[in-house]
Amino acid sequence: MIDVSETHPAGSPVAGVRPARPPAHVDALSREILELKRKHNAVILAHNYQVGEIQDVADYVGDSLGLSQQAARTGADVIVFCGVHFMAETAKILNPGKRVILPDMDAGCSLEESCPAAKLRALQETNPNFYTIAYINCSAEVKALSDVICTSGNAVKIVQAAPKDRDLLFVPDENLGAWVMEQTGRPMRLWKGNCYVHVEWTHESITRIRREHPDAPLVAHPECTRAVRMLADEVCSTERMVTYCRNSPATHLIIATEAGMLHRLQRECPGKQFIPAPTSHCRCNECRFMKMNTLEKLRDCMASLGPALELPQEILTRARAPIERMLEISAR
Ligand code: 13P
Ligand code: SF4
Repeated sequence: MIDVSETHPAGSPVAGVRPARPPAHVDALSREILELKRKHNAVILAHNYQVGEIQDVADYVGDSLGLSQQAARTGADVIVFCGVHFMAETAKILNPGKRVILPDMDAGCSLEESCPAAKLRALQETNPNFYTIAYINCSAEVKALSDVICTSGNAVKIVQAAPKDRDLLFVPDENLGAWVMEQTGRPMRLWKGNCYVHVEWTHESITRIRREHPDAPLVAHPECTRAVRMLADEVCSTERMVTYCRNSPATHLIIATEAGMLHRLQRECPGKQFIPAPTSHCRCNECRFMKMNTLEKLRDCMASLGPALELPQEILTRARAPIERMLEISAR
């Protein structure tokens, strides 16, 4: 359990999974990053799963929806995206004329990998009445083949807004898709993809931790399996987790999502205690892709302004429409 009433200096361990680094080293790197940010008129956008020391230098920390909204409205010349590749790609699609850089070009996502564009196209060809709703955790090529994009924060709203006379095809997360079907009552054909981190939590491991902390509500991400979701008091996106935990009268909460979230929750809800939900094997609830980004790589990419995202013009154009449709429906 993490005592969040303690102060956590930059570089301190998050959820007990990361060794502390000398604060002076972290401070020096952070200062360098902030200077580079001013020099290049850059904005640093970071996902809630980034290591704490990256979250602490970011201009904005949030979920996929919040990050897309920020990317859509930024006036900065350079967007530094601390998340995974598909998130930086989304920022590039929304800002084709801007330089979008990321600390590690290889930071992928198991959901993105599960859905190659050619396979999706082949499935779409079997039914011209398909209306394809793609979870934002997919490649730009898959976005370009989709009618609308969604995130975990707006998936219910997006599905509710889908045309009633079409057959819904939801890609690539079968768990998020199943949860949205439960919420909306709308049948959908689900792609068989999942997040390798979120499927690690099991009914048994969650039941055990709930017995140990009977008064602590369980908050779970919709990428978790149904066996876990059915035990949760709240199923929501990472950003809504912040609101739920802030508003909850509970002083202890069990969190079933990636470990970086605990750093954000500690900052936003001082005085509360967050218990990382254990998996059946270990407490290894880290996304290896999200954790490829480090403060050093962030500094290096801002110093060299690379690696930078580049996408073919045709993909940029075709992928933009379904993202804009999502942003428009979200704002209603
Ligand atoms: P959120 O949009 O809820 O932050 O989720 C992103 C993600 O990758 C979850 O694994
Ligand atoms: Fe992808 Fe899962 Fe990592 Fe999120 S936590 S980026 S869904 S692999």
